[in-house]
Amino acid sequence: MDFKELFRPGILATRPYSPGKPISEVKRELGLDSVVKLASNENPEGPLPSVIDAVQNAALELNRYPDAACYELTQAVAHDLGVAPECLLFGNGSNEVIDMFIRALVSPGENVVFAHPSFIVYPLTCGVHFETGRMIPLDGDDRHDLPAMAAAVDEHTKLVIVCNPNNPTGTYNTAAEFETFMAAIPDTVIVLVDEAYYEYVTATDYPQTIPMMDAHPNLVIARTFSKIHSLAGLRVGYAVAHPDLIAELHKTREPFNVNSLSQAAALAVVREKAETKARAQRNREWLDSLSAELKALGLEITPSQTNFILVRCDGNANELTKQLLAKGVIVRPMSAFGLGDGAIRISVGLPEENARCIEALKEILV
Ligand SMILES: Cc1ncc(COP(=O)(O)O)c(C=O)c1O
Repeated sequence: MDFKELFRPGILATRPYSPGKPISEVKRELGLDSVVKLASNENPEGPLPSVIDAVQNAALELNRYPDAACYELTQAVAHDLGVAPECLLFGNGSNEVIDMFIRALVSPGENVVFAHPSFIVYPLTCGVHFETGRMIPLDGDDRHDLPAMAAAVDEHTKLVIVCNPNNPTGTYNTAAEFETFMAAIPDTVIVLVDEAYYEYVTATDYPQTIPMMDAHPNLVIARTFSKIHSLAGLRVGYAVAHPDLIAELHKTREPFNVNSLSQAAALAVVREKAETKARAQRNREWLDSLSAELKALGLEITPSQTNFILVRCDGNANELTKQLLAKGVIVRPMSAFGLGDGAIRISVGLPEENARCIEALKEILV
């Protein structure tokens, strides 16, 4: 029996998600004692003490199912964003939320428009469900080509995904560009803006999308606790959208999709506003100095509004990734993102981790 015959064609054609290598695996495989991971755009600063306390307390009730409605977390986030609680949908990471929208909205024969290169989960999820991704190349400055994306929308388009700032380039589209784009999209097409790196952005002309929801009920905003909030291991993300959209989406949700430890941790970190701001500021300092040092090595980088940097390396990306790995530095080659051998992505680490990366690069390149 060839089990492959049982699966939908889209699944057979899809390659599995390939994550950044875990530290433990690299230590084991290469026999290294110390390894730094700058590969998955995580926050290098660990969870806050208040988060650890909240998780420990929640662990005392692990025999119970979690609150399926994420009530307390929903109230707290709704209050902070100034939206009604009915506008929120939580997921096992924003990944799950994005997946839920694609699954719920798109039928065979319909399509989803998104940029390329952008977050690899979009083509992967579209491929697995319906083979419907329509990828629009970034513009010459590595930013979403929003006019081309609007032009690609046809009568079969259900969803447009805008990753702002974009992973893996770290670039962003301005408020003016985004407003022009929204005006060009029919209100029957859902626009999902993936703002996983929202809190890191310092550009003053970056769009504030939540206030745009009244004028554009077809606008959905996805955010995550995995990045600035240092909770990647617990998997919490959410969508903000019109209550009628959220109500339908709830029907597609697995009943207890956000576990109780994750809910407790996210609620604790929502209360840590000053520390969240401080983390964003520190990221910016470390990003600036890492960018300057990469440039000083003669590397071409794309200016970033996030916690990672795209580094072009001229047909040498896979070899450079291997050489860095041998020195205990994990970075992400961009072949899975469709950039072939042309680029690596380096996440901003702690100052000593960034210094180790620069030292390793000097040994390899100079
Ligand atoms: C653009 C973008 N969206 C979504 C995600 C997924 O985040 P989460 O951990 O919330 O699933 C990532 C993670 O790297 C990302 O880069």
